[in-house]
Amino acid sequence: MTRTPVNVTVTGAAGQIGYALLFRIASGHLLGADVPVNLRLLEIPQGLKAAEGVAMELDDCAFPLLRDITITDQAATAFDGANVALLVGARPRTAGMERGDLLAANGGIFGPQGKAINDNAADDIKVLVVGNPANTNALIAQRNAPDVPAERFTAMTRLDHNRAVAQLAKKAGVTVDEVKKVTIWGNHSATQYPDVFHAEIGGKNGFEAVGSDQAWLEDFFIPKVAKRGAEIIEVRGASSAASAANAAIDHVHTWVNGTAEGNWTSMGIVSDGSYGVPEGIISSFPVTTKDGKFEIVQGLEISDFSRAKIDASVAELVGERDEVAKLGLI
Ligand code: NAD
Ligand code: LMR
Repeated sequence: MTRTPVNVTVTGAAGQIGYALLFRIASGHLLGADVPVNLRLLEIPQGLKAAEGVAMELDDCAFPLLRDITITDQAATAFDGANVALLVGARPRTAGMERGDLLAANGGIFGPQGKAINDNAADDIKVLVVGNPANTNALIAQRNAPDVPAERFTAMTRLDHNRAVAQLAKKAGVTVDEVKKVTIWGNHSATQYPDVFHAEIGGKNGFEAVGSDQAWLEDFFIPKVAKRGAEIIEVRGASSAASAANAAIDHVHTWVNGTAEGNWTSMGIVSDGSYGVPEGIISSFPVTTKDGKFEIVQGLEISDFSRAKIDASVAELVGERDEVAKLGLI
């Protein structure tokens, strides 16, 4: 049976994450080995030529699943009929820029893109925001798309989740597939809280599996995961790209195809008020997914230690929300 191609829009397509992402989408890793795709690449005018070069290389791969590539600097064209949108292009912080300036500059990108999604995307559109500050950029896009169900807008904390899994596997001396039910709470920033207390590692409780070592948790694990992005920038000389692209693939693949029995993942999603996270902000939660939908894992016991960590990251998100509201971006 010939399937209808899925329209996948990628913004910032000529950037370094774009380069690590597009070939995997075209080879079937995003949606499945039997799902043909059309790629819609959105760039700013200065990025169009490089995007054309990437498209030439995509052609040269002769991917059987890749049906069509559109390259444009027009958001309405890029999101026309989009089923999946990966919003990667963002305005990076430059010297002398205050947080408010950064939020305002990104508001100028994610507001119009949200509106273009609202007006042009397919009814089943699923959006993942990768570009930083990812949670608040996702909030801006979502609020500018009033006709799209709010739960279709998500922010990426899967890279943090994968980083936590890798660190825990190393510490416990197990393979990564033995690490389950890790949670990233809050913001994709240094305030995020990677939670091991509900994790299962090699069949044991996560905290016990790492020796119930509170000092390791507080002094090594939490900062290691939360500041890994900065560490990569320092050591590699550029921000994470292949691992970020890999996490974007994982995020959408899990959203579409479901979490495995006995496991969950972390996604930045619009809060419904669960776990005391104020309704409406885009914060990371433990979620299970099935049939293209996700549900927050309910009923987890939150210790005082975890509560304080979650509250601190959520307070940062509330501050960002208030700032973009003040700027008239939401
Ligand atoms: P990059 O600078 O290499 O590429 C960004 C691309 O976006 C550029 O080609 C640029 O021309 C394009 N762009 C800028 N504004 C655009 C717009 N309005 N529309 C379309 N395209 C636009 O950056 P990168 O390394 O690919 O990273 C992209 C973003 O992802 C950054 O904001 C980075 O901080 C973020 N990031 C997030 C995570 C995460 O876990 N959420 C991880 C790594 C990186
Ligand atoms: C990461 O987590 O690797 C990135 O968000 C870091 C960054 O600032 O681009």
